[in-house]
Amino acid sequence: MAGRIPENILEDILSRVDIVELISAYIPLKRAGRNFRACCPFHHEKTPSFMVSPDRQIFHCFGCDAGGNAFGFLMQYERLEFPEAVETLARKAGVTLPRDERKDPSSSSLAALLLKINEAAASYYVSCLDSPGGLPAKKYLLKRGLNEETIKTFRIGYAPKGWETLTNHLRNKGFNLSLLEKAGLVLSKEGGGYYDRFRDRIIFPIFDIKTRVIAFGARILPDAAEAAQKQAKYVNSPETPVYVKGRNLYGLNFSKEAVRENDAVAVVEGYLDFIMPYQAGLKNIIASCGTAFTIEQARLIKRYTSNVVMVYDADNAGQMAALRNLDIFIEEGMDVKVVSLPEGLDPDLFVRKNGFAAFKERIDRAENIFDYKLKILKARHGAKSIESKAAISSEILLTINRLKNAILKTEYIKRLAQELDLREDALLQELSKMKQATPGDTYNPPVKRAPEMNPTERLLIKLMLEEEGLIDDMMRKLSPEDFLDERASRVVSIMFELNGQGKNIETNKLINRIDDETVSRFIRESALLPEVSEQNKDIIIDDCVRRLKNDRLKAKKQELHERIKAAQLSQDEDKLQRLMREFHCLIKER
Ligand code: CTP
Ligand code: MN
Repeated sequence: MAGRIPENILEDILSRVDIVELISAYIPLKRAGRNFRACCPFHHEKTPSFMVSPDRQIFHCFGCDAGGNAFGFLMQYERLEFPEAVETLARKAGVTLPRDERKDPSSSSLAALLLKINEAAASYYVSCLDSPGGLPAKKYLLKRGLNEETIKTFRIGYAPKGWETLTNHLRNKGFNLSLLEKAGLVLSKEGGGYYDRFRDRIIFPIFDIKTRVIAFGARILPDAAEAAQKQAKYVNSPETPVYVKGRNLYGLNFSKEAVRENDAVAVVEGYLDFIMPYQAGLKNIIASCGTAFTIEQARLIKRYTSNVVMVYDADNAGQMAALRNLDIFIEEGMDVKVVSLPEGLDPDLFVRKNGFAAFKERIDRAENIFDYKLKILKARHGAKSIESKAAISSEILLTINRLKNAILKTEYIKRLAQELDLREDALLQELSKMKQATPGDTYNPPVKRAPEMNPTERLLIKLMLEEEGLIDDMMRKLSPEDFLDERASRVVSIMFELNGQGKNIETNKLINRIDDETVSRFIRESALLPEVSEQNKDIIIDDCVRRLKNDRLKAKKQELHERIKAAQLSQDEDKLQRLMREFHCLIKER
């Protein structure tokens, strides 16, 4: 699990953060004896079964089995990958991580340079907007209703008319021109030399989640648009080492906090469709910039919310391909709603015309994606003929097929059957055909709970987790094989091994070393067993050891017994003799 970050650094981070402090920044924790308790943030519940242990520095939910250490909490709550969780906690703890050249773009020297170039270019474009040459652009922005603060926040700029203004500016600043080309800012001329990619355009810097400028979108000015009709309205940066399309979402760096707070995000298409509502007060918004969503983008959003509200202009509102793209969210278990704005209005125009409150109301009244699709398809095909019913249902079934939740699935099938006056079982049959067509994305049955753990084994492990001193003692008295539960045996052998190497076996660090979730869960549940009183501890430990030995002996005898029976049946005399001897030895052991 640890990946490339050295174990000692991970442990250092874990030593410096307090899991109670960390988790209580997200959810309210109540004291419950030695531990803290809360309603689990990872599943729906009314009575709290989510426990946090300050002593062991772990959390565990007895309702849904979620759990882990501080890294695990961040991964699950913020939906971070392990290295990201490590990075976040390292920052909190003031621990410097060794740089990984391959992973973090800011550490790779090329990416770092490109970001630096983008930053310099963004500053240049901003200064140009306030120069005389930028006046028409500035006027246009103000006319469209953007205020000075907004222009500043989004670092909107202007790329001057000439062919080499940026090229010359950055050359004079000492930047290498071939790097400018790698950043996508300039293009090379056939006869040698370079020229600016963006000329006489309004510039929208595109930021990553850390508000670093990774690319640019450049809009044509209205006059120029009339003069040269063939030019594209927008020219964008190409993909570069720091800008991979489909990994980023415009505006999320500005809106992520609001998205989390509101637990919902409005998704619009254009830069200005983002900026105008944002300026008007809708802070939980992002822009797709007119491209189809990728799974990476869906996951990026899911870190902050699972509730997505797509806002479409009337022209795009009925496009099945675009709606089908939303299945990506459904596959990620997210909830998708749709708002379609009246004819001729995009979010930017709508807000300017009708104001923020009216826009907000539209969003609040967004329609569920299934109902929305159904409505559009019915309007398009009609719902009378059997052919149109078949066409509608196969389109909707595509989306239903993406649902992971079986209850939702059956519910939507039921509704679809009602709406189209079809039989549920016919729809289910169609659905099962689809499953075969797309293996791997069938619905996941609820996780089967692993068998209960042997209480003696669990108690002993709990005590070992509490007292390192006890491990030396146990290493003399027991071996991992004495634990019959495979998970327990794994845990103990890992503990013995680490202890033998003089390594740390604090619970939160121990689970860092364990990839197997069932084993990790075993540790968490053991660690969270009720306290054992100090007075009786020694007696209890001795008792546990004795029981363990006994159970082991019993199990071994049982096993030998089976084998002896088998040997008798197969009339294998040699084997039978050997097994009988073993059996006698075993009995003497007592
Ligand atoms: N887009 C693009 N290239 C184009 C056209 C559009 O990259 N040639 C992207 C831009 O990100 C744009 C979005 O698609 O913001 C939506 O396009 P559109 O609705 O045409 O533009 P608006 O953002 O509405 O711009 P404006 O309101 O200024 O016309
Ligand atoms: Mn627009």
